[in-house]
Amino acid sequence: VLRTRRFFSLLALLIPFFAEGSASADSPLTRGPFLQRPDDRTISVLWGTSTAVVGSVAFRLPGAAWQSVSETAPAESHRIALSGLDPGVEYEYQILGDDTPLSPVFQFRAPRAPEDGKLSFGVIGDTAGVEIPAAIAAELAGTGVDLVLHAGDVIYPDGRAEYYDPGFFVPWAPLLARAPVLPVLGDHDVRTNNAAPFFEVFDLPSNGVTGQPRFYSFRQGDAEFFCLDVESSRYGKGSPQYRWLEEGLRESTATWKFVIVFEPPFTSLHSNIIERLTLTPLFERYGVDIVFSGHEHLYERSQPIRLFGKKGKPVTYVVEGGGGAALSNFDPENFTAIVASIHGYVTVTIEEGALFLEAHELGGGVVDSFSLQKPPGAPALPPVRFSPRSPIEDRDRPSRLP
Ligand SMILES: [Fe+2]
Repeated sequence: VLRTRRFFSLLALLIPFFAEGSASADSPLTRGPFLQRPDDRTISVLWGTSTAVVGSVAFRLPGAAWQSVSETAPAESHRIALSGLDPGVEYEYQILGDDTPLSPVFQFRAPRAPEDGKLSFGVIGDTAGVEIPAAIAAELAGTGVDLVLHAGDVIYPDGRAEYYDPGFFVPWAPLLARAPVLPVLGDHDVRTNNAAPFFEVFDLPSNGVTGQPRFYSFRQGDAEFFCLDVESSRYGKGSPQYRWLEEGLRESTATWKFVIVFEPPFTSLHSNIIERLTLTPLFERYGVDIVFSGHEHLYERSQPIRLFGKKGKPVTYVVEGGGGAALSNFDPENFTAIVASIHGYVTVTIEEGALFLEAHELGGGVVDSFSLQKPPGAPALPPVRFSPRSPIEDRDRPSRLP
């Protein structure tokens, strides 16, 4: 009963939104607006219209005069980059077609400058269905996080183009309008045309190695995010992705380093052992703080793990695959700090040298919290004493890719 009520109250929340958009007979808005490409003083606004119109975005600091950026020709698919933004500041914006407003006024936070010690982000994964992801997106939108990482499996069952509107753009609309959502590829996402629809939808940072940003990195505030692809790109030693990752980690000047990779190298269910043997040495050598994954439909956090040499840094592994898919059972490993089969999402807040992670059960509050401190010269976390069940577990599906 509670779940039903929540769904209907969520629908009530969304109805005025649709009325502004595709549901309204006289509005040509079919999709969005949604934010992408958070970069230095820049963010992109994307949307779709049913007829070709000249799009523009009006934006301002609250209380200040409106500024506007317009396209030069009519189009149905719109992308406008707003540049010269004041870093880390909340703006108001509205999209227009042929000078007619197409949306209500929304807010976004301009990307944070590299020297800004503050940052907040959400993590979700495996967002099957409509009702649960919509409720998670609504809660996340309410937290005011700067951006959201999607650990993969955005569109079930197979990442088809026609499922993006009913399965993503419509139910997630309030979140997409206020914070950039940056995904990595899950196994379901690559099933249609090797993820062609995914790359038509998302406008991701380019990494200079591949034509499509199947793996990419970006900097926000004092954090750098390395978003990997283990579903459609090789990642073995010597592969372009491996070399790109090693160089990026080695040269990063960010205090905080995060990896997002769909298949978890450490989980109580199906750890990807090849990934563990291949990539974990890099994570430890170059001081990755947290590795976020999806794929297993549960929430799990590991103890800090160090397997490959005493000079490396212990790494924490977080699985957030509870975005809507049917929940998984688990058999806790001896590296597990906490594991729970729940639907929900993770939030991370960074303030100077302190990181605070919370795992939220949808509608049920905080189920796990965890913090990392990084005052200058502070010793690393002691690693967990770790002996795997067996070096290579039979039940683990060997990856096709490395
Ligand atoms: Fe999944």
